[in-house]
Amino acid sequence: MTRIDKILARELNISRTQAKQIIKQGRVTADSQTVKTADFKCSDDAQIFVDGEKIGNSEFVYIMLNKPKGVISASDGKGEKTVVDLVPDGMKRKGLFPAGRLDKDTTGFVLLTDDGELAHNILSPSHHIDKTYIAVLDKPFDDNVVQDFENGMSLDDEKLLNAEITPLNDEKTVAQVVLRQGLYHQVKRMFKKHGITVVELKRTKMGGLCLDLSLGEGECRYLTNDEIEMLFCVD
Ligand code: URA
Repeated sequence: MTRIDKILARELNISRTQAKQIIKQGRVTADSQTVKTADFKCSDDAQIFVDGEKIGNSEFVYIMLNKPKGVISASDGKGEKTVVDLVPDGMKRKGLFPAGRLDKDTTGFVLLTDDGELAHNILSPSHHIDKTYIAVLDKPFDDNVVQDFENGMSLDDEKLLNAEITPLNDEKTVAQVVLRQGLYHQVKRMFKKHGITVVELKRTKMGGLCLDLSLGEGECRYLTNDEIEMLFCVD
């Protein structure tokens, strides 16, 4: 059970004082009853409406975003546009941040959440969540590259975990790469070691979750309950 003023503040991204005012004005209902006091307690499945509009009632949010180029994977871009800026106001929450970073010029799947524990699990090196990328290359990759990726290459004195690489065209200039780590510029650096430049990079999958192809660049949506379950099944 959670206090209604706390839910309103969280869901509408307003202060508790503003939440209390809305309640006082009689604009809030929970399970069809007008809420009269700020300390009214709501169950986790209560149907809450403000001015007749249904609002969410979940402790945390999980958002899938299709990141475009030119946007920073951070909550504070210090003047530059961030992935959080792309989330529509109605979906925004205090404490929303990207669980895992993509480079400014990388596109694709970014998970945004205010659930610090889940983000920690996803980001923790010990959890080895697979991340799948499509890389467009300036020249073809050969069997040496495949072996080095699959055996766990050494990069700047660090021995990497094994990665998968699969050609997506006959010329072998487009590759699907699956990493079990998330080191800085990892895909680009792995190809660079073999003299190959990554000209386009897109993340298409995190763990068992695929980027929703109906999301245009810059668009986002909440994860479904099934998708959230899949995220919690990480080990
Ligand atoms: N590897 C990279 O080089 N860049 C990314 O954004 C993600 C993985």
